[in-house]
Amino acid sequence: MTQSAPILQTSLKNFSPQANELSVGDISISKIDKLTGSTPFYAYDRQLIINRVTQLLTSLPKQISVHYAIKANPYPSLVQLMAEHVSGFDVASKKEMLLAIQTGIPVNNISFAGPGKSVDDIEGAIIAGVTLHVESVGEIAKVEVAARALNLKANIAIRVNPKFELKSSGMKMSGGAKPFGIDEEEVPRVLKNLPLEYIKLRGFHIFAGSQNLNAKAIISAQQQTFALAQQLVALSTQVTGVKIDYLNIGGGFGVPYFANEQPLDVALIADNLQTLIQQYASLVDGLELILELGRYLVAEAGIYVCKVVDKKLSRGTTYLVCDGGLHHHLANSGNFGQVIRKNYPLAIGNKLNNKELEQVNIVGPLCTPLDILADKIQLPKANLGDYVVVFQSGAYGASASPKDFLSQPNLREILL
Ligand SMILES: Cc1ncc(COP(=O)(O)O)c(C=O)c1O
Repeated sequence: MTQSAPILQTSLKNFSPQANELSVGDISISKIDKLTGSTPFYAYDRQLIINRVTQLLTSLPKQISVHYAIKANPYPSLVQLMAEHVSGFDVASKKEMLLAIQTGIPVNNISFAGPGKSVDDIEGAIIAGVTLHVESVGEIAKVEVAARALNLKANIAIRVNPKFELKSSGMKMSGGAKPFGIDEEEVPRVLKNLPLEYIKLRGFHIFAGSQNLNAKAIISAQQQTFALAQQLVALSTQVTGVKIDYLNIGGGFGVPYFANEQPLDVALIADNLQTLIQQYASLVDGLELILELGRYLVAEAGIYVCKVVDKKLSRGTTYLVCDGGLHHHLANSGNFGQVIRKNYPLAIGNKLNNKELEQVNIVGPLCTPLDILADKIQLPKANLGDYVVVFQSGAYGASASPKDFLSQPNLREILL
């Protein structure tokens, strides 16, 4: 199976190889191994994250605020770093909300989305002053009850499930029947019945999908988002008399993981946003326009590192058995939404320039055939103690994996 050469080359360059070995923040992975105490670990490169956010902010129109979706990577030091570079956070649980608040970012710039929020979640958000993205009529009723009991006003934005979908997305989250948001056609009725005594309607959240590498598809969704938002804002002003000051247009910016995937053309999207801002000037005036991104900001800044602990030959196939795998990196094992498993870009992190190659299958220590790190991959010949490094691992890694499966030792994380 071929590795995705362009992504691999970028990754190798990003993690500035010192001679034969990868490094993160100028520390070689063998030193990070000693620093953290052992493999497996995730290491995140602070400067790569800063570069990514800075480049993005430079290319986007100044009217756009970028919020970081903490679910992509909730490692506390990374979230703290993000707080210095983005305007706000999107959280998906009370734990993420507490993390966000403690970074010192203004609570006004924190939103709490996701279906099935508990009373405890809702009360927490109301007390903190965080904006609840309400996902159903039932949730609005719960918010009203909680706000009344607390004698506080809840800030909400209505998450809308639009009729359109974000085409060619890794995960579609709008169009058709969805657990997310209130169907577009239901919103007028919901607006009429909003309990405004206890609820302050800030605006709308329209999140159509995630992991999209097709700029044209994102542009099309954004065009439809602005058109829909214009209708909704006009209607809500008419029905509730409330001035809307908040529009979250979602995100969906993807990163390339596999062979034949190309990086997203953000410049095209930025140009189109500029056009939309001009076209919808009266809508945008006085409105906070939010782009909500997770993996695009962090995925390429993280690597997962584990060590070869056994090497064996089985009927002609060479296996590298490592001390890490599916339980730390579910996405790389192919079990986090992929239909057909493909290899992430990978390297033997301490043998970058070794010329002798070998085709191997790389597996983890779990007693299940699902525990795959790489399938039929050509890499420099590796032995016990060598490092297997998985690139594009800064998002949906540690926190999206079943760490307790088979009660293996804990992994470590570090931001350098
Ligand atoms: C509401 C919401 N916001 C943000 C994200 C982050 O998506 P991504 O990390 O692909 O940018 C998701 C992903 O599922 C989401 O559901």
